[in-house]
Amino acid sequence: MTTCTRAQATRLEEVLAERFGTAFSAPADAPGVDELMRMANHRSHRRYLPRTVEPALLRLLFGCALSAPSKSDLQQADIIHVEDRSTVKAIVDLIPDMPWINQAPVFLVFCGNNRRIRKIGDWRGKPFANDHLDHFMNAAVDAGLVMMNFIRAATAAGLGTCPISAVRNRPNEVSRLLELPDWVFPVAGLCVGYPAEAGRVSPRLPLAVTVHTNRYDEANLERNIDAYDPRRQALQPYRRQRYADRYADVEFYGWSEEKARHYSVPERTDFGAFIRDKGFSLK
Ligand SMILES: Cc1cc2nc3c(=O)[nH]c(=O)nc-3n(C[C@H](O)[C@H](O)[C@H](O)COP(=O)(O)O)c2cc1C
Repeated sequence: MTTCTRAQATRLEEVLAERFGTAFSAPADAPGVDELMRMANHRSHRRYLPRTVEPALLRLLFGCALSAPSKSDLQQADIIHVEDRSTVKAIVDLIPDMPWINQAPVFLVFCGNNRRIRKIGDWRGKPFANDHLDHFMNAAVDAGLVMMNFIRAATAAGLGTCPISAVRNRPNEVSRLLELPDWVFPVAGLCVGYPAEAGRVSPRLPLAVTVHTNRYDEANLERNIDAYDPRRQALQPYRRQRYADRYADVEFYGWSEEKARHYSVPERTDFGAFIRDKGFSLK
């Protein structure tokens, strides 16, 4: 494990302070500083160099990603590497406002898989007695952890990534294109490639909002969000106001206005039906 220099510790403090708007203290001998810095410096990348990601490297990253912890060691996450460009194009055609899917040299879809454990039960002559919501959630969480592990591994290897939950906008079509059988469902896609630009750190809510001590606490929530809005706006202003046809133009368009507008319109309302069609009862 590497320990850091004062300069590295200072840089880590700066990146976290920019992201969260409050001071952090990193000791000069902080262990694992390279990994901490990569995590603190995370940014999604949506533009890529026309450079191939070597298959051997990709395989290494799959191994690292699938080394993630897994609920009860059930290993219910799979990765579909969509190598066939016509399939990638067909997915992009379903999600036309995200051209970076097609531009990325590699496109993956991380899936939850409850199918294997059911088959194993059949082979071993055991009933499957866990057809309920938790069973679905375990596979979804495993897939999320594997995707995050992949993102960390890819970043360490100099690659950039962008998750794509929009594959769930058209789950039936994506499922058909990828030939996902019953009990296998897409959690998110992931664009992968060498970044064409540095990207930027996206500010997050302060830890006062998202870290709680001993009990859940939202005493200063509204005040903290009111303070977050202008800080975020200064670093990462929105280029347009969402749903301008529904809502009046506002002078100050912050994160909370954007998110309130975003979730004022239903989306992916068919996903529950899709998951039930895949065989889950979700009871
Ligand atoms: C599960 C998940 C799904 C996402 N889906 C999309 C997506 O469909 N399209 C996209 O461009 N970005 C997507 N993102 C990226 C987020 O927009 C991004 O993480 C967020 O704006 C914060 O920016 P940052 O990752 O650069 O810190 C997704 C991220 C996650 C974790």
